Amino acid sequence: MLEIILKSLFMINMIKVTNNYQEHIALIELNRPNELNALNLQLMQELRDALKALDQDDAVRVIILTGNKKAFAAGADIKEMSGKKSVDMLKIDQFSTWDQIKKTKKPLIAAVSGFALGGGCELAMTCDMIIASESAMFGQPEIKIGVMPGAGGTQRLTRALGKARAMEMVLTGRFMTAKEALEAGLVNKVVPEEIYMQETVRLAKEIAAMSPLATVLAKEAVNRAHEVHLEEGLHFERKNFYLLFSSEDQKEGMQAFIEKRKPRFKGK
Ligand code: CAA
Repeated sequence: MLEIILKSLFMINMIKVTNNYQEHIALIELNRPNELNALNLQLMQELRDALKALDQDDAVRVIILTGNKKAFAAGADIKEMSGKKSVDMLKIDQFSTWDQIKKTKKPLIAAVSGFALGGGCELAMTCDMIIASESAMFGQPEIKIGVMPGAGGTQRLTRALGKARAMEMVLTGRFMTAKEALEAGLVNKVVPEEIYMQETVRLAKEIAAMSPLATVLAKEAVNRAHEVHLEEGLHFERKNFYLLFSSEDQKEGMQAFIEKRKPRFKGK
């Protein structure tokens, strides 16, 4: 009991959340700089809870996830996992906390600088878009420590890069530079390290100015493209499109176009 009380008294938050309600943007910073933001259980639980809360906050329309200049995240916490057995891993089921990231309805942009390795690369790929600094390095080096990707790497990297390149990355564990990642279509943009946050905020603001209902339904439809056959995906997209016609934002957006003025979206 005493141990739990002491632990909660001295528990340091492993993420930092900042809301910019005026711009409708929230920023989540991974905050374990001494461990290169290694993703331990506590950090992932905090991230899950923060994403859940921000997803329900009407004042937030776009979420940015970032680390620091040296590391977005260097993977799952090797020290925390090293002594575990299969049964422990199954019981803890640490990747179940990751399901919330995928479930996040609002657009989620990763701002990546430095290492995005293993779970860090998987975390960035689970986001909807990636803005990378020139120093960003992506990789799935799990093979070098006797395991393999476990939080989506074999699936998402293969979808992003194609089988040949993903296979090479996963089987050799080699890192990919930001430039290479851009050419391969893994990231949206690469900019100098000094401005990667600025560029991410610019993109977030651009999206936050749209109807939040439309962005949520459009994101959902784009994600379906990876999961279902074309016919089903087209049907899903059409339903979301029709659904938006019961929103005030659709009326406002189209009326503003006709009146040649900027729309004022309310998320209604
Ligand atoms: N887990 C735990 N601690 C980590 C870590 C990780 N994934 N990555 C870095 N650290 C710690 C280091 O142990 C070190 O701590 P100490 O100062 O206490 O020794 C500190 O962060 C700084 O790291 P380095 O001294 O190693 O820094 P470097 O600049 O020399 O090297 C690096 C950087 C190449 C990223 C190197 O740290 C590294 O190879 N890290 C591990 C990368 C990796 O294998 N990731 C995959 C993890 S498994 C996984 O993610 C499974 C999954 O699918 C989810």
